[in-house]
Amino acid sequence: MAKQFEHLLSSVTIAAGSVQLKHRVVMAPMTRTRNDPLTYAPRQINALYYSQRTSEGGLLIAEATAVSASAEGYLRAPGMYTEAHIDGWKLVTGAVHAKGGFIFSQLFHAGRVSHSHLLPEDVSPVAPSAVKAEGYAHTKLGKFPFEEPRALETQEIAGIVKDFALAATRAVEEAGFDGIELHAGNGYLLQEFLAKKTNLRTDHYGGSIPNRARFVLEVVDACVAAVGAKRVAIKLQQGATFSDLVEPEDDSLAQLAYLGPQLQKRNLAYVCMSSLNYDPYYKFLGLEKPNFETDVFQYFRKHYQGTLMVNGGLSPQVADRYVEEGTADLACFAIFFIANANLVALLAAGKELNLGGWDTKIWYGPQDPADDEKYYTDWPFVDPNDPIAK
Ligand SMILES: Cc1cc2nc3c(=O)[nH]c(=O)nc-3n(C[C@H](O)[C@H](O)[C@H](O)COP(=O)(O)O)c2cc1C
Repeated sequence: MAKQFEHLLSSVTIAAGSVQLKHRVVMAPMTRTRNDPLTYAPRQINALYYSQRTSEGGLLIAEATAVSASAEGYLRAPGMYTEAHIDGWKLVTGAVHAKGGFIFSQLFHAGRVSHSHLLPEDVSPVAPSAVKAEGYAHTKLGKFPFEEPRALETQEIAGIVKDFALAATRAVEEAGFDGIELHAGNGYLLQEFLAKKTNLRTDHYGGSIPNRARFVLEVVDACVAAVGAKRVAIKLQQGATFSDLVEPEDDSLAQLAYLGPQLQKRNLAYVCMSSLNYDPYYKFLGLEKPNFETDVFQYFRKHYQGTLMVNGGLSPQVADRYVEEGTADLACFAIFFIANANLVALLAAGKELNLGGWDTKIWYGPQDPADDEKYYTDWPFVDPNDPIAK
């Protein structure tokens, strides 16, 4: 009889031979807002959280991490721009490497979904254009509606590109990460440039798809120049409904058709294609049907033949099928990793998974930092070899 998840649990080498994986089950980036309340640096508790979720020869992607103080978007979400951040991340990368795992840092700029109360000197958030998002920011002073962002001047953009490259260098050379993943999803700055709805620019960063993709590719190229292509990856996200950035399907697909070959020729460690089109996610979100008719993974695969990671509402069964049919090389899971720290061992042993991670109330940090371990590092551990455990 064929082994369950045999494709997902097979080995693969990525990133020009530098990351040798024993399986293809990757932990997706998850903001859990439990970093140091003052410095937002990771601490021992965060190192423990990542260490618990490390398997030998497994890959983890750390939570979205601000490239500069002006890139911040969430209370107690980490950065990569102070000595305290670097020292904190060393605890995390050291713990993951000690268990034989690999870890990439996800670098981001929150763009319009930040708030002046989260940014230095109370300045407005920045974005490609002054298009306000619906929704709320959680700041030190409480919950406030998103503000109208300030449209970036053309000559300011190069400075943000540099911030990404510097953060990439710090992540790899100082904090000990195996690579970085650029966050071009969730309606943050990189995706805001790609999307028609948020990019109304008339300079060479707006208008046509190549123009809207220019900033993203400049960031990719600057990071490649800083740390090398095999240490750079990117997460794209289409068909999602996050941060008030729902895009029309035809334009999203056209973006992917353009970005696929552009990213392929850059020979990155991987591209993560994330979409929320899949069961059970859209049901969980209360949507009646997927946002897109097209299978975004299969579509993107036609335009990109490099290392491809898929993500978004995937069950291990569905992910295994995508690997088997050659659509995906890797699959990353977020919610399953919350309550199943040793997810890979549980899948290999055919154990039932704990679905506690689907409770949205436990995703983000508690009001009182004294409770940080709750729903974070305190999930019951199921021994995969215990014959009595399901
Ligand atoms: C609590 C939580 C925090 C998240 N934070 C991030 C993040 O920091 N960066 C990111 O790219 N995606 C983030 N996501 C999205 C996940 O990486 C992933 O794309 C999404 O949950 C779909 O995957 P899943 O169905 O396996 O959970 C987060 C998801 C959850 C549940």
